[in-house]
Amino acid sequence: MSHTHEAGWAHAPGALRGPAWLREPSDPNALVPQLWSHHAEKRDGVLTLAGVPAGSIAVEHGTPAYVLDEDDFRARARAFRDGFAGYDVYYAGKAFLCTAVARWIAEEGLHLDVCSGGELTVAERAGFPMERVGFHGNNKSLGELERAVTLGVGRIIVDSFDEIDRLAAVTHELGRDAAVMVRVTAGVEAHTHEYIATAHEDQKFGFSINAGDAFEAVLRVLAAPGLRLQGLHSHIGSQIFDTSGFEVAARRVLALHERVATELDVVMPEMDLGGGFGIAYTTQDEPAEPAILAAGITRIVEQECRGRGIAVPQLSVEPGRAIVGPSVCTLYSVGTVKPVTLDAGAVRTYVSVDGGMSDNIRTALYDADYSCTLASRASQAPPVLGRVVGKHCEAGDIVVKDEFVPGDIAAGDLLAVPGTGAYCRSMASNYNHALRPPVIAVRDGVARVIVRRETEDDLLATDVGDER
Ligand code: LLP
Repeated sequence: MSHTHEAGWAHAPGALRGPAWLREPSDPNALVPQLWSHHAEKRDGVLTLAGVPAGSIAVEHGTPAYVLDEDDFRARARAFRDGFAGYDVYYAGKAFLCTAVARWIAEEGLHLDVCSGGELTVAERAGFPMERVGFHGNNKSLGELERAVTLGVGRIIVDSFDEIDRLAAVTHELGRDAAVMVRVTAGVEAHTHEYIATAHEDQKFGFSINAGDAFEAVLRVLAAPGLRLQGLHSHIGSQIFDTSGFEVAARRVLALHERVATELDVVMPEMDLGGGFGIAYTTQDEPAEPAILAAGITRIVEQECRGRGIAVPQLSVEPGRAIVGPSVCTLYSVGTVKPVTLDAGAVRTYVSVDGGMSDNIRTALYDADYSCTLASRASQAPPVLGRVVGKHCEAGDIVVKDEFVPGDIAAGDLLAVPGTGAYCRSMASNYNHALRPPVIAVRDGVARVIVRRETEDDLLATDVGDER
């Protein structure tokens, strides 16, 4: 039997079609390459990751598991490093960070963006060169600032007047100075294919350029003897596919950069344009190569600087998702399959897996789209429209809202969800006392644990009981 769209089986009365962009797979036993890490392939229907069959990962390490293609991760890191040649490229650790990944980032010559004391600790444990670390956060504690200054992190991105005062006091007390970037709000917010260039000042991050707060922050940093002003920092959003939002932001940030130079006679050496570069979660997304993004951003910055008669500052960017997102897939075991008949008589096949919103909150939180594939065997059964759900006590516990799955999918099958490297493990929770899954690195036919699975003892480690 043919499994193509033309074959007609999907047009049975009442058949569910899913969202308009969703296409039935032309070959259910193949992968859609742009959704997967470079070393993922299907051999006779079996998903192999860097030469390791999904089944053997499941047997050896259990499911659910995040599987991280190390060479793919390193290649994407290098693509940003080389694509943004001349820039400092900071990997945004909030997307996913562990000591192994911090080491890989160091080895590939990138910088690291951390945004909490915890992430700073991971960098420290990994022996990450502190002068290549940037420290973010809109409410860093006194303790976090003291540690950052003591460790000598390369730059601290300040985000409030309170913080400038606090950091000035810390540097004074410790008798050390700190390199500082001022996080500004450029009035641009970009998400996916759109950007909005007005009225996005109503949020917690940054000093408004428009309202004059950013200029005032610059003055206060300059007035603090222990603070060295490195430049301005702007981050406009996430999952962005073109450079138009960056261009508008860069113009506005450069206008302030110039104002500081002309009015205060201070030439800030650096400027950071943040992260947010998009990846393909489904076939509807078409991300650009880092070099293409870089060319667009560089062109506008150079043009703008030329027009203003100022030198181009040392530029930096902070990609997180675009480096780690596509390098990881989550491997689940199917536990139950339940066809549910909807009002119109159409059937949606609910496929329950052994994880869910505790290992991927993005679907529930952001209405994010994902894809999936049967990972453990070939199937000739006509696809049906499925919904992959987790095992948590919540109806919104959905991993993949809509995807075609083989009609014979059954308990015991392995299912893999691509594109889960960013903001899945890092936002994982213990909801329902779930054990957070391990991260298994695969490379050259070998799988190894870089973050182990939690145990019930881990879960109870902080539960000290009530020993009154
Ligand atoms: N730099 C700054 C200052 C940021 O705030 C962020 C992300 C990044 C860089 C990295 O952005 P990326 O290249 O990874 O898009 N949890 C959300 C994403 C939150 C992003 C927060 N900031 C999600 O799962 O989509």
